[in-house]
Amino acid sequence: MKISDIARAAKLFRKKTKADLLPPPAEKRPRHIAFIMDGNGRWAKKRSLPRSAGHAAGTEALREIIRACDEFKIEIMSIYAFSTENWNRPADEVQTLMKLITKYFLSEIDELMEKGVRIRILGDLDAFPDEQRQALITAQERTKDNKGLKLNIALNYGGRMEIIRAARALSEKCVKGEMKPDDISVETFSLETYTKDDKDVDLLIRTSGEKRLSNFLLWQTWYAEIIFSPVYWPDYNRDELIKDLHEYASRDRRFGKVKDK
Ligand code: IPE
Ligand code: IPE
Ligand code: MG
Repeated sequence: MKISDIARAAKLFRKKTKADLLPPPAEKRPRHIAFIMDGNGRWAKKRSLPRSAGHAAGTEALREIIRACDEFKIEIMSIYAFSTENWNRPADEVQTLMKLITKYFLSEIDELMEKGVRIRILGDLDAFPDEQRQALITAQERTKDNKGLKLNIALNYGGRMEIIRAARALSEKCVKGEMKPDDISVETFSLETYTKDDKDVDLLIRTSGEKRLSNFLLWQTWYAEIIFSPVYWPDYNRDELIKDLHEYASRDRRFGKVKDK
């Protein structure tokens, strides 16, 4: 079966979105949302479909959530698409995932350009096959000056490796005399991470009921609110997002201070 057939079949299983819910007011929305898009495999298993059908259905959910984040004027959206640990999956699943990810962004690029979305890849693309790496770099280049939603795509990404990479870059600058160890601060360290000067994550949503970070944005989520949604990613939609945005708006973010009266 071709990936496009699986995607079409999987789409039929997806629930229709109701348009009757409204998000919380703009000032109560997070500026940066990170998504751990989990549960594609279990979604497929529940329907006796191959795991690849779950991943294909997952791209449909992604399209809806990107549109919703754009509509709700979310500043930054970071998605976990492929972790450094995901290489340990069977080779055919790794290949399907790679193909789907590249194909998805190539098919979406025009709409993303139209919406003014800026794509930034977080992670090491060197391990990708030439053609796919080139396609992703081109998408990043083409959208780099866009002023709309900032879409960060974590691909071959690992949070620990990102921190080590930043530490190495700063050490090198110190050795070369370009900076002093005392100049290492939250700001200078952040600039060496993949997300550079992006605002830290306000809200992290992980679908599928798993309650862990799985090596995602360890530095940037230091004070994030976390929501573990029970929904499998392919079933996650605009209404689920609105529900989670209301949950976020109801949270009391104190950052270690005493609650304001
Ligand atoms: C998340 O779904 C997608 C990626 C890791 C790319 P999974 O494939 O992890 O689905 P489950 O967790 O096995 O259900
Ligand atoms: C995290 O999900 C990675 C992505 C969503 C890309 P996994 O399914 O790979 O993580 P674990 O194995 O449950 O920790
Ligand atoms: Mg998983």
